[in-house]
Amino acid sequence: MTRREFTRHTAAGAALLGLGDLAFLGRLPPVSAADARLDPRLVRIDSGIEPLVLLLEVTPREKLLEEVAARIKKGLGYQELLAALFLAGVRNLRPDNGHYYHAVLVVHSAHLASLAAPDSERWLPIFWSLDWWKRAQAAGAQRDKGWRLEPVDEARVPSARKARQEFLEAARKGDAPVPEAAVIGMCRSAGAGELFDHFALRGADLSGLGHPAIFVSQAWRTLQTIGWQHAESVLRALARLVLDGPHGDHFRLWQGNRELAARMPAGWQEGKPRPGATADLLAVMRQASPAETSQKVVELLADGVAPQSIWDASFAGVAELLLRQPALPDNWFSAIGPLHAATTLNALRWAYGASSQDETRRFLLLQGTALVPHFRGAPGGKTAMAAGSSGLEPAPITAPGKEAIAEIFATIDDDRGLAARKALGYLLDNGSAQEVIDCGRLLVFRKGQDSHDYKFSSAVFEDYALVSPAWRAHYLASCMSILRGPADKDNVVVERARAVWAGVR
Ligand SMILES: [Fe+2]
Repeated sequence: MTRREFTRHTAAGAALLGLGDLAFLGRLPPVSAADARLDPRLVRIDSGIEPLVLLLEVTPREKLLEEVAARIKKGLGYQELLAALFLAGVRNLRPDNGHYYHAVLVVHSAHLASLAAPDSERWLPIFWSLDWWKRAQAAGAQRDKGWRLEPVDEARVPSARKARQEFLEAARKGDAPVPEAAVIGMCRSAGAGELFDHFALRGADLSGLGHPAIFVSQAWRTLQTIGWQHAESVLRALARLVLDGPHGDHFRLWQGNRELAARMPAGWQEGKPRPGATADLLAVMRQASPAETSQKVVELLADGVAPQSIWDASFAGVAELLLRQPALPDNWFSAIGPLHAATTLNALRWAYGASSQDETRRFLLLQGTALVPHFRGAPGGKTAMAAGSSGLEPAPITAPGKEAIAEIFATIDDDRGLAARKALGYLLDNGSAQEVIDCGRLLVFRKGQDSHDYKFSSAVFEDYALVSPAWRAHYLASCMSILRGPADKDNVVVERARAVWAGVR
């Protein structure tokens, strides 16, 4: 689909779904796709970006969109704004500040949404993120009493050799904190690729609804976008959330899978795709423990099954979790457990693709499959997955032609399960997955109320292409359990953005 077709489609979709007119965003200078793919050399942590970070810090929430819109009109670019937004969060929000730390975690998800949007709508995710940042800053100021990431105590930073020794020693133990000074020393002396593997290994524990793993992947992806010159402060924030180490059952699973990864066959990547093995593993995931599931993965790999068939089982398992615990009409957060199963799987799968180390990739594959039985029993997921198949059956669509998409999403308002069945029917009947994704994203733009709207949609729309064709329609259809429907209330930031721009043009 070309950009023109996308624009035409989303305009048609907006009309069909009663979403109103997003054309006001077209009056902002269009952001080109080239702008949105940042040059890592553009932004520096020096005086170039500092004034903009400061603006985001000191401007009151009720005036920030106006201030930013005025600067955009004068030439402020999308690229600088994205970097400043991320750095403001890193500098001002405690990494253990729960819900509101999502102001940092969501930046890359919003960026992905921006990349996928037509030029005229590309500002909307970042406008929403700016407003969310101010909410997070206010909550953090109240809870954490003005906490900010303090300057580095240079006297404590070890030499390059000593930093490596201390870092690796603590990192290998698994459940001991890695000293922050060693992290800073390593950041200054080791390459990004090596550091990523250390963080990915350590952060791929499933505690805290998967947020350590999510933060590692989101932080690395954002750094790839805004430039490695900002790594030190970001890695310090990561160290405080991730490098304390998994504990209790999470550590036992982490350690067990580290040992199991070493026992995978040497040719573990040379097997053949086998859909029957995916179904077998899915059956195990429904009833077995995370450790038993990991054991089954090693057996399948030894039997010549390709890793892709293993990942397919994880996506199919997460689809079942989503389908069995859809968001309730009056409580969208009721599905927060399955939602995080999807976003954690996205983080682990991305890290698997990004890692250059065989040891890391083996481990991430095992944690990715252990994730399904883990979330099956996680808070918010206790009722999610009994023995037996989810048995999602396709349902027919009555609306003609292009209106099929509108019918699918309108059904979300009344019956999420039926919306998933209609989506499956549409996709299996050669309907366009891209149109489902485009309309799902449009509804997030217009109706999303929380950072998880962006985190979830960006994750599952990205992962759709990574699932084998035999399973991907099922995965996309299952997302109807979480996505917004046209009857959801509008996002007030969209309304504010309209008024803001009317005031500055
Ligand atoms: Fe979250």
